[in-house]
Amino acid sequence: MNRENYYQTIEDTKTTPMEKDIPTYYFSSIQEAIASVDQIIETFKKNGVLVLKGHSYTTEEQVSLVKAVGDILNWNVCSDANQETIDSSIYPGGHSEDETRPYNLTKDEYVLDWHIEQVYYLHPILAGIWNMTKFDTDKENGNTRFVDSIELFKSYSEEEQNFLIKSIVKWDKQSPLETGPYYTNVVDLHPVSGEPVLRVETDQGCILYPELYALDGKEATEEQKIKFKDLQDRLKATLRNDESLRYSQKWEQGDLLFVDLFRMYHAVMGGYNFGERAFTGVGIRPKVYDYSLHKEPRLV
Ligand SMILES: [Fe+2]
Repeated sequence: MNRENYYQTIEDTKTTPMEKDIPTYYFSSIQEAIASVDQIIETFKKNGVLVLKGHSYTTEEQVSLVKAVGDILNWNVCSDANQETIDSSIYPGGHSEDETRPYNLTKDEYVLDWHIEQVYYLHPILAGIWNMTKFDTDKENGNTRFVDSIELFKSYSEEEQNFLIKSIVKWDKQSPLETGPYYTNVVDLHPVSGEPVLRVETDQGCILYPELYALDGKEATEEQKIKFKDLQDRLKATLRNDESLRYSQKWEQGDLLFVDLFRMYHAVMGGYNFGERAFTGVGIRPKVYDYSLHKEPRLV
């Protein structure tokens, strides 16, 4: 069965078109949000994504809330972080800033394909806190979709899980610093919960799409490579088609979203035009980290 037919089959047999609800908190001020920091953290740990509504946060307020969370979760952005760490953690986003790009995709088409964030780092990004400062289009447009990779891992059989745990892939995608190829474990353990997380890049924009390199410390055979490709195709089909695992963030201006980027696959949908969608992000790393890349396989 080729990849196209596989997607079609899943689409046709879908029975429960029911997405998951993103946990939502309504706070009317930054003080109220900071007073509820324990609740925010509990939900962040449980679901991997949550959104705050009811107040438009300035960047300063956003950073102060991130620091309060970071003090408890041991993030690099925390009360005693220096100004350079804070400044370098803030970035603009929104995927609507490029005037030269055509904005012709519909709300059901992908502007940014499914991916898991920057798997190539030895000390990967842990979280994103996205403050939607401008959202000038319909709520149905420009959704960000999320799927929890702890749940994705559990969707495989025990035998398949054991295969995936022993798998190392070779792949390449443009990193901010240098090129690959990278050799990464398909399954990693979550730094806080210790649960297995499937972390294999699925973005079609890869220079080299991930392929099985080693299994159980030995060079992969052709048969094992084919088996991995089948599991990988299923992962992509599940991300695209299984609505029961999907969270869809229907943005409104002022939304402040917390996402665990170690754990959540995500994608951005179209339907909006140039300049209609802009956020201020804070990207979180561990307290102690560097920008080393997985240029060598982690053989056990
Ligand atoms: Fe991303």
